[in-house]
Amino acid sequence: MSVTIVCITASLSFSQQKFATDSIEIKVEALLQRMTLEEKVGQMNQYNGFWEVTGPAPKEGNAKQKYEHLKKGWVGSVLNVQGTTNVRKLQEIVVKESRLGIPLLFGFDVIHGHKTLSPIPLAESASWDLEAIEKSARAAAVEASAVGINWTFAPMVDITRDARWGRVMEGAGEDPYLGSKIGIARVHGFQGDDLSATTSIVACAKHFAGYGFVEAGREYNTVDVGTSTLYNIILPPFKAAVENGVGTVMNAFNVLNGVPSTGNKFLQRDILKGRWGFNGFVISDWASGAEMVDHGFAKDLKQAAEIAANAGSDMDMESYAYITYLKQLEEEGKVDIKVVDDAVRRVLRVKYELGLFDNPYKYCDAKREEETIAHPDKATVLDIAKKSIVLLKNENNLLPLSKNQQHIAVIGSLANDKNSPLGNWRFGATDSTAVSVLEGFSKYTTHFKYAKCANLTLGKTIFPFELKLNETDTSEFAEAEQLAKQSDVVVMVLGEHGFQSGEGRSRTKLDLPGVQQQLLEAVYKVNKNIVLVLMNGRPLAITWAAEHIPTILETWQLGTEAGDAIASVLFGDYNPSGKLPMTFPRSVGQCPIYYNHYNTGRATAKSKDEVFWSHYTDESVKPLYPFGYGLSYTKFKYSNLSIDTSDAKNIKVSATVTNTGTKSGEEVAQLYIHQKVASVVRPVKELKGFEKFSLKPNESKVITFSLTDKELGFYNNEGNYVVEPGDFDLMVGSNSQEGLVGTFTRK
Ligand code: BGC
Repeated sequence: MSVTIVCITASLSFSQQKFATDSIEIKVEALLQRMTLEEKVGQMNQYNGFWEVTGPAPKEGNAKQKYEHLKKGWVGSVLNVQGTTNVRKLQEIVVKESRLGIPLLFGFDVIHGHKTLSPIPLAESASWDLEAIEKSARAAAVEASAVGINWTFAPMVDITRDARWGRVMEGAGEDPYLGSKIGIARVHGFQGDDLSATTSIVACAKHFAGYGFVEAGREYNTVDVGTSTLYNIILPPFKAAVENGVGTVMNAFNVLNGVPSTGNKFLQRDILKGRWGFNGFVISDWASGAEMVDHGFAKDLKQAAEIAANAGSDMDMESYAYITYLKQLEEEGKVDIKVVDDAVRRVLRVKYELGLFDNPYKYCDAKREEETIAHPDKATVLDIAKKSIVLLKNENNLLPLSKNQQHIAVIGSLANDKNSPLGNWRFGATDSTAVSVLEGFSKYTTHFKYAKCANLTLGKTIFPFELKLNETDTSEFAEAEQLAKQSDVVVMVLGEHGFQSGEGRSRTKLDLPGVQQQLLEAVYKVNKNIVLVLMNGRPLAITWAAEHIPTILETWQLGTEAGDAIASVLFGDYNPSGKLPMTFPRSVGQCPIYYNHYNTGRATAKSKDEVFWSHYTDESVKPLYPFGYGLSYTKFKYSNLSIDTSDAKNIKVSATVTNTGTKSGEEVAQLYIHQKVASVVRPVKELKGFEKFSLKPNESKVITFSLTDKELGFYNNEGNYVVEPGDFDLMVGSNSQEGLVGTFTRK
């Protein structure tokens, strides 16, 4: 035995050798030795859920072929199969009927909960509450693992700057520092402390890399970014996920600087597996291997398989490229057996870590499934839902509403919608199971009347079909106006349909869709006391509303408990504490707009009539609401900024925050830095620390941040992390535009 191990270790890379004493590595190697080439390729193949698995075995067609492949051990994983009965059935086929009985991985998009839904990820990110985010991912893992799933295609850690892109809803917004912290929290939440625990599922950081930078926000579009943006903005959240043990990484549909991610050796071999020493495996995105032919990077599916495998894409999702051609490619010498072995080792390692070889049915406990589904963790999803809400404006303190207020009008079809609050990416959940705003509302007061006033969409809104918006029907407006006239305050619930963001849901307009803007203006004419409750999956350019409507509450799509969370904020049981994880533009023409941009050579006008400076002639350069922004029902004052540079390797920054209002509340104190001069220009501001805490009226807290080399350096254009001595600006405050400012020198 020892001789065998010595032989094996000799053929391993350095990073693999360091694990070779580990018992999992020994088992992986032993199994690999027994596998035929077809079986190895099988581990690199993933199929979508196929036939009605509990029914009879299919006799013909594609499903029959997949079934045969399962029996031969030619499938390493399936996706979109859930339920312990279904999972067990497929697992039994491979375990009992295939030669080596290697268990399957069951992948699923568990993006923000499974059956019980948390807010969409962008919303959760607005909580800036890492503990609550981790708990939310944990609750999702508990449910998903109970229904047979052992692998989630989450978190999406793509940094996004352009609200036109529909998938901004799925990420943590525009900032790599916040995005990294949130990515880590989600990975921990899904994977737990121990991947072999029954409630742990393996996470997947996606989409590697650059998918968040699709040009003009158009889905699947080209990505062309410079080295500085790649190293400093796009890659850090992936690196953080890898450093924190994420088991898998998904590559992406997009090209990055002319090379499709799936065939991108630089990304997958040099950076991910090379520099970062990633030990897990890379899954392609859905048919992204095959799409390299459409990109014009491979002449056919066979060449696509060759390119993808050599570039380090270990498992093929639904391209049929590996299963069809990889064996042949190896025999022709186009793909080395070492490439195949390396990929298979990675896949097997994850299966061992999950404990699937000890018990392939560990996720197939029907009793646990029944009990878990019967007892959803509503407290966790309600908690994060409340924390995700952002108060954008509260003139005249229209909020919180009084429970005894006599005449409240609630207007808008989204107020009565039990489906849209669930958002997109919720294939494990049942449609229309959210608590609606009206339902939440009625738990607090009976003194209100509701007018739907124009449907947001027309016809059935069945996923994944294109939505038909109501752009014309205003016939119910009169009813709304009438009701508003008779009311003290009008709560208008407006925004996007739940399927208006997500994959394939790019928009060129960021306004309130359909006839909603018209409705808002019509109601405003008769009653100005409007509380606008926004429900949407991306930042919206609600510039008119920001100017005219006194109170605006951003509630995103908050999941199963949406209505209760919203009502608790509207009636003041919960004091809003969320802060925007993405800049809100004033108009689409400003996109992409983000706080951590570079300066230009002409950042300001020298005089009032100056033309030749970096601006628009028809719009301000300022955002509507900046990154990090969010109000509370109380007020926080920042004072006593102090910077201690006595230890250059650990600069201490502190400030006092005082609750000067009359209500208890939570604040997210944020630290931003800007290096004034560097060998590669630095963004005007970069978030480098934050802390969320709660304060009672008149209570103060001294917050302290540390600035070490980890915060002060950056990646140069060679991709090397450097810390350059020099002068820095610094800001500590309540959002990216307001705070106490100071300077310091890093020697
Ligand atoms: C998406 C991935 C997802 C996969 C499987 C693709 O269309 O881009 O994020 O995980 O489908 O559902």
